[in-house]
Amino acid sequence: MNLKELVGIEAAKFVKDGMTVGLGTGSTAYYLVKELGRRVNEEGLKITGVVTSSKTEEQAKELGIPLKAIDEVDSVDLTIDGADEISADFQGIKGGGAALLFEKVVATYSKDCIWIVDESKMVDKLGKFPLPVEVVPFGGHNLFRLFEAKGYRPTWRKTEADELLTTDGGHYIIDLHLEVIEDPRALAKELDDYVGVVEHGLFIDMISRAIVGTPEGPKILEVPAK
Ligand code: 5RP
Repeated sequence: MNLKELVGIEAAKFVKDGMTVGLGTGSTAYYLVKELGRRVNEEGLKITGVVTSSKTEEQAKELGIPLKAIDEVDSVDLTIDGADEISADFQGIKGGGAALLFEKVVATYSKDCIWIVDESKMVDKLGKFPLPVEVVPFGGHNLFRLFEAKGYRPTWRKTEADELLTTDGGHYIIDLHLEVIEDPRALAKELDDYVGVVEHGLFIDMISRAIVGTPEGPKILEVPAK
């Protein structure tokens, strides 16, 4: 069993009958959704899923997991999602799979969030992984130039056909190659303030625990209460 599968299955144990569950996106969340599908079908687990992307929606539908849209629920009991980096103080970068906007919306309406990662994603400080910034197409190239001028080393997220990638929300993604982010909270605030930025991949104070896959087994890291 690979480490992503290991943490996907471990995280599914936190899902109980009757819960509304936010279903993350990516190659790790894939295993969570697969395991929840198995429990729904084999154990009669009763849940309602809220998806964070069209990709996850497709998988959940194939597995027969009952779904509601985020706007059909007032809140989500628990969201389980992957992450691209988790720092020592449990802040994160997400959006490697281009689903950051919907992931952050679902996380925002969730009473509890868990990230599932393999141990390679645990870092001291965030920033080696390029930080995704989702922008509206109108004026997006101006934002790109602005990020260049600020020394943020932007690149456009492209498709395999070398076209600008369009997210599920109909936006573009600019990846910032920052190497290290000394103050994620301050950068998050700065990015929130740019007109035309819809969302960014800095997820601040979002989770209660991380489940980390290691060759010795899954490690459950509880985030200290603030
Ligand atoms: C998608 C995400 C993913 O959760 C993140 O990229 C991790 O993906 P993977 O589990 O495939 O490494 O944020 O937008």
